[in-house]
Amino acid sequence: MKRYLLLALVIYLLLLIPPAEAAFTIDKAEDITNTSEACASCHGDIYTQWKKSVHESSLLHSIDSIYSFIVDGIEKDPIRKGLSQKAELMKCLNCHAPVMEYASEKFVREVVDAIKIAGGKSANPESKKKAIELLSHLNVSCYTCHNMKAVPQPHAPEKQTVYGVKGGKNTTYHSTKKTAFLDNAIFCMQCHGVYTAPDSERIICSTVAQSYRDQYVAAGGQTTCQDCHMRKNNRGHTFPGAYVPDMLKEGMLLEVNARAFKTQTYGEKKWIPAAAITVDITNRAGHRIPDGCMWTSRVLLTLTATDEKDKVIWSAQKEFFEPGLDIEGNRRYDTWEVKDILDYSLQPRKTTTEKYYAVFPEREKLVKIEVKLVYIHKDGLEFPVQSERKVLKYN
Ligand code: HEC
Ligand code: HEC
Ligand code: HEC
Ligand code: HEC
Ligand code: HEC
Repeated sequence: MKRYLLLALVIYLLLLIPPAEAAFTIDKAEDITNTSEACASCHGDIYTQWKKSVHESSLLHSIDSIYSFIVDGIEKDPIRKGLSQKAELMKCLNCHAPVMEYASEKFVREVVDAIKIAGGKSANPESKKKAIELLSHLNVSCYTCHNMKAVPQPHAPEKQTVYGVKGGKNTTYHSTKKTAFLDNAIFCMQCHGVYTAPDSERIICSTVAQSYRDQYVAAGGQTTCQDCHMRKNNRGHTFPGAYVPDMLKEGMLLEVNARAFKTQTYGEKKWIPAAAITVDITNRAGHRIPDGCMWTSRVLLTLTATDEKDKVIWSAQKEFFEPGLDIEGNRRYDTWEVKDILDYSLQPRKTTTEKYYAVFPEREKLVKIEVKLVYIHKDGLEFPVQSERKVLKYN
């Protein structure tokens, strides 16, 4: 009996120690999956935070556009089709699943097939499920940030090494190296900015990095990505962005002033109720709002005036967005087609002011004005951000 207890204890203790063959390194394509799960046994809290972030699903979250790149961009273009499939795919996956850099051409083909099944409409549910399972392991993982992207070029990351900002002790699982790079905005900007592929093609997906440097830092901003997205309110590894209502509220302040007055058409004797409305929207983020990639994103400002019976008597609206254009000057929504941008977004460290001269029906004695700001990712996927009401009286 005692022997069994001892054996059970030994097995239990062995389970606590990660097996030697799970050592922290990636040598072949098949090692690519499950890397973050390997860190979870010792960094449980951080793993749970990361699971809530978009980084955790950075391929599946963008599957429609990556699917379109393969089917419409690569397979229908004789030039692209003749190039290395891996090199073309990395034009997205260098940021959406960087670990594919280590993949064999065979594994790349498996992943391409999985993307076509998961992103397409025709596959049967069972193969779709299998494809999604495989792709769910391809993401911006712990390994991506703490090894692959953690050292600035031309240096290369060392195997079995985790890079951190403290540079603490080596562990049984990984040696530890200190780097200030992880603490710097340029670390995040590697992926959150315009990308130049090895063949010099420029991919314009995220434009946050350009906006951060040329608009926010240029206007005197000094806070880093890590300050706002990780340290503030202990956000840690959840990396909240434009899908998190609190973050959107923090990013955009709304102030409304409305003054009632009476207007008159020149030469006529009638007094008409009217309002001078000023709307101030202050961008408190470290970059433009909204930002690209989801090339449908827009911030919608609406003003609605209603009478005592809640009937709409006046309205106005304005959109703030960053349209993507192809080289012909046509507006495009898929990342691989966008080669140029126009900028109608809210600029960082700036207050954008909109002024309205609203004229109401002559009979009105009381007018209610409602001003709303909504962040729209695409039709049907939108978040209310701020709203304000004013009541104006006329006698
Ligand atoms: C330089 C790195 C980089 C490259 C290369 C890149 N992306 Fe992205 N992508 C990002 C980042 C970062 C985001 C996060 C969103 C943001 O910045 O607003 C993103 C977001 C997206 C989104 C929006 C996801 C959502 O639902 O909000 C889509 C779609 C997308 N990418 C598709 C692609 C496709 C397709 C390619 C290849 C043609 C590609 N990306 C290449 C970095 C990149
Ligand atoms: C998008 C990049 C990114 C990803 C993904 C990421 N980290 Fe981090 N991690 C960072 C940065 C940047 C810091 C430094 C934060 C700071 O300076 O406050 C950090 C800090 C840490 C620290 C030190 C925390 C402390 O308070 O001392 C640990 C441990 C850590 N990460 C583990 C992980 C694990 C485990 C995962 C996966 C579940 C992971 N990270 C995923 C970027 C990342
Ligand atoms: C066997 C447990 C274990 C596993 C598995 C593990 N770590 Fe750690 N890690 C630790 C311990 C313990 C420390 C703190 C060392 C110290 O005292 O400074 C640490 C520290 C870190 C740090 C902080 C580095 C710094 O600057 O001091 C990072 C980042 C980190 N780990 C990332 C990872 C990642 C990424 C993985 C998965 C690929 C991982 N760890 C897997 C035990 C582990
Ligand atoms: C290896 C590339 C990579 C690195 C490094 C990286 N990110 Fe990301 N990040 C992405 C991709 C790709 C997405 C978008 C995934 C999607 O939506 O499909 C993303 C998404 C995000 C989002 C959510 C965007 C949204 O639309 O709401 C935030 C916030 C974010 N990252 C912040 C950071 C910060 C801060 C850092 C630096 C500490 C960082 N990222 C480093 C690739 C990266
Ligand atoms: C001063 C604080 C602050 C700084 C600095 C900052 N951000 Fe943000 N970020 C925000 C807020 C607030 C939002 C939510 C509003 C929005 O969607 O832009 C946001 C949104 C985002 C989004 C989603 C954008 C969209 O519209 O899809 C990404 C991606 C992002 N940040 C990445 C970064 C990166 C990378 C850096 C550094 C280069 C950075 N942020 C610097 C506050 C900040």
